[in-house]
Amino acid sequence: MAVNSEANSISISDLSLTFPNGFVGLKSTGLQIQSGHFCTLLGPSGSGKTTLLRAIAGLITPTTGRIRIGNTDVTDLPVQARNIGFVFQNYALFPHMSVAENIEYPLKLHNWKVDARKARVKEILDLIELPHAAGNAVGQLSGGQQQRVAIGRALAYKPSLLLLDEPMGALDRRLRQQLGAELRAIQQRTGITAVYVTHDQEEAFILSDRIAVMAHGEILQYSTPADLYARPGSRFVAEFLGEANLIDVQSVAGDMAVTAYGPLPFTAIETLHARHGQPSLLVRPEDIRFVDSGSNHPTPVLQAEVTRTLFLGSRCLVSAKMKDGKTLTVECGKSDAPREGTTCGVTWASSASIMLVQ
Ligand SMILES: Nc1ncnc2c1ncn2[C@@H]1O[C@H](COP(=O)(O)OP(=O)(O)OP(=O)(O)O)[C@@H](O)[C@H]1O
Ligand SMILES: [Mg+2]
Repeated sequence: MAVNSEANSISISDLSLTFPNGFVGLKSTGLQIQSGHFCTLLGPSGSGKTTLLRAIAGLITPTTGRIRIGNTDVTDLPVQARNIGFVFQNYALFPHMSVAENIEYPLKLHNWKVDARKARVKEILDLIELPHAAGNAVGQLSGGQQQRVAIGRALAYKPSLLLLDEPMGALDRRLRQQLGAELRAIQQRTGITAVYVTHDQEEAFILSDRIAVMAHGEILQYSTPADLYARPGSRFVAEFLGEANLIDVQSVAGDMAVTAYGPLPFTAIETLHARHGQPSLLVRPEDIRFVDSGSNHPTPVLQAEVTRTLFLGSRCLVSAKMKDGKTLTVECGKSDAPREGTTCGVTWASSASIMLVQ
């Protein structure tokens, strides 16, 4: 059932969109999505995720720029000529139709012959693992099952692209995780290119080949989940993806950053998205260790007072108050967490501290 895997890349160049009321929904945006990839648009509410998705779909017309799917420039094509499957937050299934009829509906619209339709519906029911529910009314299904039908319906006529706008927004966390894994499996099995919108960073990390982090109508950074986490190009990306300790840098002296805690080593200056502004060091909580203040370490050991220890089951999040009154968050194993009120040393490898300029 794999779709033609070479033809379904997406190439967006210089796309911008100003709404009739003058509001700039998208600033000049470029994005290249490889065929067969799962790409997530991740960003806070109002950052332009839905606007970009709707522009790809052809539901709104961009002010400037081009959109290509494979070798075809689709910018001027109407929605129905773009061969795209959609899944929206409210699945918009037809409540008076059965599961099979819902899946068959777009095939009828695309004038598939009866035999081909029946065969495809069976194929899709297997794909979404609901073969026994073919005759059920959709109202009898759980939210998660309805979601699977919506995905199946969107895939039925073999679109080149699958666009999903917060399709699991209404579901609880456990169901989201389970369905996310199912969605990813279906996407990989079919080899379809998917663009998925969410503001949930954990979901984005789990599902995606690539994530585009958006804010204020712009893509700030586009990369793999691991790269975004390890090498965020800006404070916004660092703080939006996971817990981030940011230490103000007063100046740079040789290979050391001068901070309120003295000179600290660092690995790299990220200039990718460099803007004017105060540079800072990023240190992730899991990279900080508690150590004996007296012992020898290759990196500076800073004094900290443990003000709070949060027990999270398999690990602890510890608040360590520094001498300037600011707090670093330290993640450690449950047996390594120091007691609240104690003073201890904290340190991290120089490879774990990244200079952000913005
Ligand atoms: N038709 C419109 N006219 C004017 N402004 C609009 C229009 N549609 C959206 N906007 C504005 O564009 C911005 C981006 O909206 P968009 O729906 O793309 O955000 P989003 O990232 O999808 O947010 P959410 O996570 O809340 O769904 C918002 O500030 C929104 O108010
Ligand atoms: Mg939206």
